[in-house]
Amino acid sequence: MLSFAYAAAVRRVAVVAVALLAFPLSLSGPAIGQAPSFPSHPITLIVPFAKGGPTDVVARIVSAEMAKSLGQPVVVDNIVGAGGTIGSLKAAQALPDGYTLVLGHMGTHAAAVALYPKLGYRPDVDFAPVALVARMPILLLARREFPAADFREFVLYVRAHQDTINLAHAGVGSVSYTSCMLLNHLLGIDPTGVPFNGTGPAMDALVAGQVDYMCDQMVNAVLPLRTEVIKAYVIAGAERDPAVPAVPTAAEAGLPKFQVEAWNGLFAPKDTPAAVVATLNAAAVRALDQPEVREPMTGLGAVVPPPDQRTPEALAGVVGREVQKWRMVLKRQAP
Ligand code: MLT
Repeated sequence: MLSFAYAAAVRRVAVVAVALLAFPLSLSGPAIGQAPSFPSHPITLIVPFAKGGPTDVVARIVSAEMAKSLGQPVVVDNIVGAGGTIGSLKAAQALPDGYTLVLGHMGTHAAAVALYPKLGYRPDVDFAPVALVARMPILLLARREFPAADFREFVLYVRAHQDTINLAHAGVGSVSYTSCMLLNHLLGIDPTGVPFNGTGPAMDALVAGQVDYMCDQMVNAVLPLRTEVIKAYVIAGAERDPAVPAVPTAAEAGLPKFQVEAWNGLFAPKDTPAAVVATLNAAAVRALDQPEVREPMTGLGAVVPPPDQRTPEALAGVVGREVQKWRMVLKRQAP
C-alpha cells in the first residue's frame, strides 16, 4: 500500500510538473471580439486556499494549458484566509485589466454571501465571470481509525459524542465548511470545527488522525481514499461516482437531503473589458478540451463542464442561482 507521504508527494509533484509546463509560444492569434494585444505580460491567478488542495490543483492544471494559447505565463498566487474570501476580495479590488483573476467556487462566490454579513464583495456584481472550469462531488470523509464502519454507525457515534469529536474545514464559507454545516444541521449535531487555510493541510491532519471527519471535494479525496489512509461514508450526490464506486450516496444511506455539489469558476474584476474576457474565456474553453486538462481532472474525479456551460453568461447564471440557494439553505439553519 502506498504511504500517504508518498501519495502526498505524488500530488505535489503533479502540481509542480504542471506549473513547469506553462510556457510555450502562443498557439493562435486572437479571434474576432478578442483583445488583440492582450496579454502582453504574465497573468496572476489568485487561489484563495492553500497549495495542494482541490482549488489549487484545478487552478494549476487549467492555467498551465491556458498559458499555451495566451502566450503568457499564468502564475498561481495562493492568498488564503477567511474561507477564501480574503483572496476573492483581493481579486474583486484588482485592476480590471485581465491580469488578475481568481478561481472561485460554491463557497467564495455563493455561500459566503449568507455567512459574511460584511463580505466586502458581491459575487454576482463585483466580478466579470470568465468560465466555469470544473464541477465535482463532495464526500463525507473520516480518519482511518474513526470508530464507525458505515454511515449508520457514523450517525450514531457523532450524535453520542458531539462534545468530544471535531471536524476539519477550510474556514467559514468554504466548501468543506458549508457542506458539513448542512450535514450537521441534518443530523442535529454541532461539534467543534477546526479551521485550516485549505483542505490540502486539513487532509494532512485527517490522515494523521488529528481531526475526526471532514466534508471535502473529490479531487482532494481520491488519492488518500485509494491509498486507504482515510475513509469515506457517503457521497453527497445523486449518483455514486466511478472514481469511488464503493461509496454509497447519502440518499442510499438514508439522508437524501444531504445533496451538495462543488464547482470552480474563473472570475476577473468587474469592468474588465469584454474583449479581454472573451480572450480569457477562449483560452479556458480550449484548455478544457485538451487531454492535458481532461485526463488529470477526470482522473481525480472532477467533471469538465460541457461547452454550453463554459460561457461567461452560464457562469453568471450558476452564481446567481447558487447565491439564492445558499441564502435559503443557510437561513433555514440559522439559530
Ligand atoms: C481548498 O482548495 O482548499 C478548498 O476549496 C477548500 C474548501 O473550500 O473547502
